[in-house]
Amino acid sequence: MAGFFDKLKQKVSEIKDKIDEANEVKDEVEDVKNTVEDWKEDVDQVKEAAAQAKEKREKKAAREENPFLADIKKRAAKLGKRIVLCEGEDARVVRAAADAVREGIARITLLGDPEAIRKDNPDVDLTGVDIVDPKTSEKRPEYAALLYGLRKAKGMTEEEADKLSYDNTYFGVLMLKAGDVDGLVSGACHSTANTLRPGLQIVKAAPGVPLVSSYFLMIAPTGGNQYCEDGAFIYADSGLNENPTSEQLAEIALISARTAKQIAGLEPRVAMLSFSTKGSAKHADVEKVTAALAIAREKDPELCIDGELQLDAAIVPSVAKSKAPGSKVAGHANVLIFPDLDAGNIGYKLTERLGGFMAVGPLCQGFAKPINDLSRGCKSEDVVAAVAITALQTQLS
Ligand SMILES: CC(C)(COP(=O)(O)OP(=O)(O)OC[C@H]1O[C@@H](n2cnc3c(N)ncnc32)[C@H](O)[C@@H]1OP(=O)(O)O)[C@@H](O)C(=O)NCCC(=O)NCCS
Repeated sequence: MAGFFDKLKQKVSEIKDKIDEANEVKDEVEDVKNTVEDWKEDVDQVKEAAAQAKEKREKKAAREENPFLADIKKRAAKLGKRIVLCEGEDARVVRAAADAVREGIARITLLGDPEAIRKDNPDVDLTGVDIVDPKTSEKRPEYAALLYGLRKAKGMTEEEADKLSYDNTYFGVLMLKAGDVDGLVSGACHSTANTLRPGLQIVKAAPGVPLVSSYFLMIAPTGGNQYCEDGAFIYADSGLNENPTSEQLAEIALISARTAKQIAGLEPRVAMLSFSTKGSAKHADVEKVTAALAIAREKDPELCIDGELQLDAAIVPSVAKSKAPGSKVAGHANVLIFPDLDAGNIGYKLTERLGGFMAVGPLCQGFAKPINDLSRGCKSEDVVAAVAITALQTQLS
């Protein structure tokens, strides 16, 4: 009997050992699992860092080496124009002023207090940048008189004109009107409305141009984009006219085609965008676009323009085949005319943020002399690009 109990005890002890062993294995499996989880996290972190580095590299390459932008800068440099940058208080503008001069793109007048600009930007070499302070400029009273002469019929008093002439944007616009500079860039730290109103009041639209409008030059990322055959699009109006009429939309299309050719070097194929393609939907907003198309065609029968087109029908060849067969523009558009500012503004930001395009603008078309706005989210490279385009705009016929 005792032998039986001893055997039983031994069996129990063996089973206990086995259970302990099994528990040890279980712990080891848990450890391995945890290690694998840790590794997974490490791999995810490495992957994320690599993706971020790639995006950074691509953005840098798109900005610095984009051949499209390089060509614009090269053409601008040949002209030797003088451009005024109104916002000496903004570090991005100060850097851009120095870069534009160093790269030989234009001669630059920067507005602001020279001492403050140099103190706030100690690492920027401002050699060759002409700094003018509206507060101390001997030209200011002359500009105030010019402003009063131009706006007194609209009710402006001499005192008001004098006060406004101290404002950097007004001062810059008055320099342009007086012929002391060839073009103006502002808006890095001022709203579009505040940037463009002085220009609209003083420089005004060019003779024969019914309205000033704005556009973005959308430059495809380095390496290209499958929907952008020519390396860039013109988007209009994405920054100024809130709800253009059919007549105004037609003007925006006509002048944007000219911009595409003369500034961007594109052979324009203009798409009048809508939420409808060739009558697929019926609505007053669609009729506004088809009426604009008819006006534009009547004014310029040679222009390669079509509508109304949805965005996919405008730029995707396979969609164009089924939605707008036979159209010379559909599937290949490079000038996109948006029906209103909501669509135009949202459209350019989607293309910039999701598509990785460089958005240069909002640039203006139709002013008697070149004035360009900047986005308040701009980088100093964007300001340099706007300077180059402003110089080219002095050549528009
Ligand atoms: C630019 C803007 C301020 C002009 O509108 P406004 O302030 O109401 O201007 P006013 O009506 O006072 O016009 C001022 C002058 O500019 C002229 N003008 C206004 N818009 C014009 C245009 N598109 N083309 C030509 N002239 C224009 C007016 O005829 C007026 O001339 P006058 O004073 O000699 O008679 C306005 O269109 C605007 O705010 N647009 C939206 C800008 C924006 O927020 N964009 C989104 C971000 S990018």
